[in-house]
Amino acid sequence: MTETSKFDAWSAGDAYQHYMGRWSGLIADKFVDWLAPPKGGDWLDVGCGTGALTSAILRKCEPASVTAIDQSEGFVNDAKNRVGDGRAVFKTGDAMKIPAKNAEFDVVTSGLVLNFVSDMKDGLLEFQRVLVPGGLLSFYVWDYPGGGMGFIDAFWKAAAKIDPQAAELDESERFPVCTRSGLTDLCRSAGVAAADVAAIEETTVFSDFEEFWRPFTLGAGPAPGYCKSLSEDQRDALKNELASKLGGDGEIRLPARVWAVKAKIPRF
Ligand SMILES: C[S@@+](CC[C@H](N)C(=O)[O-])C[C@H]1O[C@@H](n2cnc3c(N)ncnc32)[C@H](O)[C@@H]1O
Repeated sequence: MTETSKFDAWSAGDAYQHYMGRWSGLIADKFVDWLAPPKGGDWLDVGCGTGALTSAILRKCEPASVTAIDQSEGFVNDAKNRVGDGRAVFKTGDAMKIPAKNAEFDVVTSGLVLNFVSDMKDGLLEFQRVLVPGGLLSFYVWDYPGGGMGFIDAFWKAAAKIDPQAAELDESERFPVCTRSGLTDLCRSAGVAAADVAAIEETTVFSDFEEFWRPFTLGAGPAPGYCKSLSEDQRDALKNELASKLGGDGEIRLPARVWAVKAKIPRF
């Protein structure tokens, strides 16, 4: 664990679902449409969380099977209960050391995970190890540097005003590679020359500020993990700063944009 990852709390499924899963599910649906994969095949979903992408694959892609792994046992159990489909197998496992043989999957995919692994290039090489030659490699990450994950961006900008040390926890600072050119270069460095990179966007809608704020208090994910670590006074100051920026009463609408990547891995 690094200094900037110390609040990356991934375990409580319901809290994650409230904070992120309800939005990541919308993106997952659009992503599999954009991916336009061949029907069938054996799929791997790396970092499945509470099952947003696994569930989209099962609903839309007619997979023969989906193996979904996550490092968090809590999330794996949550996803298993939430998804409940006989074609899906859920396992705990590390993205950097996937519990699978070489060339085991026809499609390897991953939603909102790759920026969190210890080495993104090695992660991509590991994805390719378990992919059949001629298989489809894909993943997506939030457009943090472009402010594309609006509620996370607003949170960190306000946090840095209250606590200057929070600036280095801001995911737009931690993950500068999450741009179109950054991801294209990353793919090249991992031997994926012909990657197709596209923006996919949804809108997060909160009926009022309280609805916007509550998920940050639940502790699942980097920003909520940081929020939970604050004293009551600091948390109140952060809440007031955010409310003054976003408005206290009316609906709050913010973008949720990912950079999606797909590449057919050539046969040798
Ligand atoms: C932002 S969540 C995304 C979850 C889900 N894919 C979604 O779209 O909602 C990031 C997930 O990556 C998992 N994760 C982070 N590093 C990992 C690693 N090295 N190996 C496996 N899972 C990892 C976390 O446990 C968490 O479930």
